[in-house]
Amino acid sequence: MNRFPTVTHLADRRSLLALAGLLPWAPGLLAEELTKTPPFTEGPFYPDRLPLDTDNDLILINNALTPAVGTITHLAGRVLDIQGNPIANAGVEIWQVDGNGAYLHSGTSNKDKKDKNFQGFGRFTTASTGEYYFRTIQPVPYPGRTPHIHVKVRVKGKDILTTQLFIAEEKERNARDGIYKSVRDPKALAAVTSSFSPIPGSKLGEKVAKFNIVLGLTPEMP
Ligand SMILES: [Fe+2]
Repeated sequence: MNRFPTVTHLADRRSLLALAGLLPWAPGLLAEELTKTPPFTEGPFYPDRLPLDTDNDLILINNALTPAVGTITHLAGRVLDIQGNPIANAGVEIWQVDGNGAYLHSGTSNKDKKDKNFQGFGRFTTASTGEYYFRTIQPVPYPGRTPHIHVKVRVKGKDILTTQLFIAEEKERNARDGIYKSVRDPKALAAVTSSFSPIPGSKLGEKVAKFNIVLGLTPEMP
C-alpha cells in the first residue's frame, strides 16, 4: 500500500522522464490551449476487489521476486490543466490485462491463464510538476478489443476523467476497435494514442510510453 514512490522509484522516474523527453520543461510556455484528453468508457473490468498492493509498480506484487510476464513498459507523463499548468496531488489509477489477456476481475476472460504475479492495478499521486510514473507491461489484445490501458484521474477526491490509452504501433487493431473509433476528432484520438518505444540498450527489451493527461480544468477549478 505504498502510495508514494520509494527512493529507488524516484531515481528511476527521473531518468525515465528525461528519456521520454519530458524534462526539462517550464510551466507557462504554452500560449494556446492544449487538446483535452477525451473520456472513454470505464468498461466492466475496474477491479471488483483491489489488490493488497496498489503501488505504481505493477510488475512486482509487494516484495515478490518473480515479476509479471510481458514487455516491461515505463509509463510516464504529466497531468495538466487545459493551459498546460501542472496539477499536483492528482490521483492517477491504471488497470489493464496481464500478458495473457486477463484482468484483475472475477468476470475476466482468460481467467484460467491469469498471471498471478501481475498487479493489474496501480495508483500514483502526482508530484508538484504534475508528473506520474508507472512500471507495467505493454497490454495485449483480448477478445473484441485492441490493447489499451484504462486510466482514471481524481482531483481533490473527485473523479475528473476516465479514459483509455492506446498503442500507436497497433494501427490495424486500433482501426478495428469500436471504442477507439468512437472518437472522431483526430486530435483527440492522437491525445490518447502513444508510441510504446523500445528503450535503446535495454537488455530486457523494456519500452517507454509517454502520456500527458490534459483535464478540462482552469487553474481556479475544481
Ligand atoms: Fe479494457
